[in-house]
Amino acid sequence: MARAAGQTVMSRLDELARFSSDRGALTRLYLSTEHKSAALQTQIWMQEAGMQAQIDPVANVVGRYEGREPGLPALLLGSHIDTVRNAGKYGGCLGVVAAIEAVAALHAAGERLPFAIEVIAFGDEEGVRFPVTLTGSRTVAGTLDPGALDAEDSDRVSVREALQLFGCNPLHIYQVARSKNQALAYCELHIEQGPVLEAEKLPVGIVTAINGASRYRVQIDGIAGHAGTVPMRLRQDALAAAAECVLAIEKRCTSEPDLVGTVGKLATHPGATNVIPGKVVFTIDVRSPRDDHRHAAAADIRRMMEEICARRGVALTIDPTHEGHTATCAPWLREQIGRAIAAEGLPVRELPSGAGHDGMALVDLTDIGMLFVRCKAGISHNPAEAVTLDDVAIGARVFLRFIEDFRPRQ
Ligand code: HGY
Repeated sequence: MARAAGQTVMSRLDELARFSSDRGALTRLYLSTEHKSAALQTQIWMQEAGMQAQIDPVANVVGRYEGREPGLPALLLGSHIDTVRNAGKYGGCLGVVAAIEAVAALHAAGERLPFAIEVIAFGDEEGVRFPVTLTGSRTVAGTLDPGALDAEDSDRVSVREALQLFGCNPLHIYQVARSKNQALAYCELHIEQGPVLEAEKLPVGIVTAINGASRYRVQIDGIAGHAGTVPMRLRQDALAAAAECVLAIEKRCTSEPDLVGTVGKLATHPGATNVIPGKVVFTIDVRSPRDDHRHAAAADIRRMMEEICARRGVALTIDPTHEGHTATCAPWLREQIGRAIAAEGLPVRELPSGAGHDGMALVDLTDIGMLFVRCKAGISHNPAEAVTLDDVAIGARVFLRFIEDFRPRQ
């Protein structure tokens, strides 16, 4: 039965991967038409699994499977169905489809538990389209900054306008927030997006904590000029300054273990071969298992960039766009997930998550737990992202056992 469940999960992930804005690649950004198609398909699968399902005012897809009596507090499950650009098809979606499959198994067996289950397909975990992230999960947790609705994409469309175009009513998003007594815990199955489980020949693992992340939008303003006439010593070249900043970021983040720093996006203006760049805009993503180490690195990076730009005579603007504190997974949930893994005769391995997840937001509402599934070579955010049917079947089996044996914290 678990292998059949694994096959269902894998085939549904192939179906979801068809909803993309790019031909020949998987890109599904928050509130896009592709997101809407994937959300509607997810809603159908939730309903087929015996859940009441709807799309909420912030475009999460929410399926509810009642317990032995209506209205009981719920074990929250889920993950996200948005992707990065040119993504793999397993990050996020695997957790949503596996959670639906677990409820479908309960429904098929006519099993009702002493608690309800809510499966949530979040729409904005990757934070690619808008300079904000975790919009859906933060709304569920009741922690969304109201200003997030004014964040604009590269076409100057705000989150609020995009929600309206999607068919949602932003005025109702504050109805989405759960109260603490409505949620028993949040648990997410996700691919590891790292190499540890594969290196140790383990199909699954338990997450100890999700590393915190700080993201920034940086703008450097120099002076655009003629590439042929302005002597090098008289230039205020925004891109040359940015390049020195990028190398400084890399050097600082290489200086201590477990700290990582990435410049993932960089745009030069006006962007012509024969024009000295007058403006550069780029992003910074800094992460660490320790919030104090991440904040210290961010402060050092700011100081270094200020020195570089002052020396080069260009203007520097740094705007924070995301701050997610390190989210610890609750020991009592790690213990229950561990029991489900051990019951399958598998070794119990705990490990941190360098990747961010919606649990970073849900931890402000309830305790969180995560189950990792091995992925090939730890590759993720890349179309080469891959999992095996056997590992997906094992992950689905462990997840279902965790759910069936789940006991709320006393
Ligand atoms: O960026 C992350 O870590 C996550 O995959 N969104």
